[in-house]
Amino acid sequence: MTASSKKLFVKTFGCQMNVYDSGRMADALAPAGFVRTETPDDADLIILNTCHIREKAAEKVYSEVGRMRGIKQARRGAGQETLIAVAGCVAQAEGEEIVRRAPVVDLVFGPQAYHRLPALVGRAQRGEAVVDTDFPAEDKFDHLPGASPERIRTAGPTAFLTIQEGCDKFCTFCVVPYTRGAEVSRPAAAIMDEARRLVELGTREITLLGQNVNAWHGAAPGGGEWGLGRLLHALAGIDGLERLRYTTSHPRDMDDELIAAHRDVPQLMPFLHLPVQSGCDRVLALMNRRHRRSDYLRLVDRIRKARPDIALSGDFIVGFPGEDEVDFEDTMELVRDVGYAQAFSFKYSPRPGTPGATMEDQVPDEVRGERLNRLQALLRHQQHNFNEGCVGTRLPVLLERPGRKVGQLVGRSPYLQPVNVDADAALLGEVIEVVIEEAGPNSLFGRLPQVRDEANPVVMESRF
Ligand code: 5AD
Ligand code: SF4
Repeated sequence: MTASSKKLFVKTFGCQMNVYDSGRMADALAPAGFVRTETPDDADLIILNTCHIREKAAEKVYSEVGRMRGIKQARRGAGQETLIAVAGCVAQAEGEEIVRRAPVVDLVFGPQAYHRLPALVGRAQRGEAVVDTDFPAEDKFDHLPGASPERIRTAGPTAFLTIQEGCDKFCTFCVVPYTRGAEVSRPAAAIMDEARRLVELGTREITLLGQNVNAWHGAAPGGGEWGLGRLLHALAGIDGLERLRYTTSHPRDMDDELIAAHRDVPQLMPFLHLPVQSGCDRVLALMNRRHRRSDYLRLVDRIRKARPDIALSGDFIVGFPGEDEVDFEDTMELVRDVGYAQAFSFKYSPRPGTPGATMEDQVPDEVRGERLNRLQALLRHQQHNFNEGCVGTRLPVLLERPGRKVGQLVGRSPYLQPVNVDADAALLGEVIEVVIEEAGPNSLFGRLPQVRDEANPVVMESRF
């Protein structure tokens, strides 16, 4: 470590996009001498990378800031300075209010400002309270460094790669169009380059990220424009890249080419996160989802025809303003019809500044809670059945990291289930067949196949 190196601690809240962004912030700060550290206690710069999607996210940030203030004071007592920064979506939404309420915060910046970070930190070091929540016209992707030393150190068998940011859909419950701004797609060539570099560093599985990832439409390498289906084909051509995934998608943007990619690109894993939010047309219209229940069901049918072994995951919101008991039952019925391998479900949480927050007929919290319990019981049951259905089959597993027990490794199945298996650490980073022997609520347990299994292979075919 050089004498000039400084320590950076980043605490990440929220989605995978934020996890990726935290890496990008570290990348942007590496040339300024910042090296990431695992604990805030000795950090020269603490960044809280925040999420604003639901509930008292902002409150959580203020209590975290309080904790960090203690560290700042202790270090100051020892003659060292610590800068505290609030980044991400709460920063974007609250802006100056954060510095007003918590003067201990030195720096507030939104998701569009990461490439300006060294300059912003420089200003904060000179004692200025810096707030940067502008949405500049230029493409922030253009300014982000590629594979920095930080990224090289952290590249593992699986990696995230942001291909698209922002959202133009304006669902009436959602802050993303306000905090992340308009949809921006990265050019295909830049994505391909980053993917190639990751694969050279040992990555075997890439998950393409975007708030509305399947709305991606980027400049094609030879001119013209590609959609996500075409991009997946191109990525699948990278030697050594064994698995592809993408998240999160909107039903409206599942075009024919993308559905066909699920049939034609073997590297594309048979697992799709396809949020529907509600199973009731009236509520979907109030949410401005721009699809009906029947559109979603038809889409699921077409995707299953293209890739019969596909497993689905979804997002659901219960208790959106105006949702009554019958509407909620529509959602339950849709869940029963579709059958999910896994899902996320939430109580509606009014977000300031979104149309939903001021709609009439807000649903009382007890009712929202009670509906959420019922929905989650059903989804848990489906996930349990799905996991149980894997027992006795063989699944290809990408081994990612050592397990909790000595001699054990943990990997992911095609359906994103963590799989625990006794295997030699030399197999890390490889895709191997695992005989699944046991299912837990959230993970699977298996063993490596033995020669006698070869006579009798059992492979998963259809899910529901
Ligand atoms: N209240 C509850 N859930 C929400 N989500 C987004 N905004 C809200 C909100 N205001 C959920 C949606 C989305 C997921 C990322 O978070 O289900 O798909
Ligand atoms: Fe939010 Fe997704 Fe709707 Fe965009 S499509 S507004 S990110 S829920």
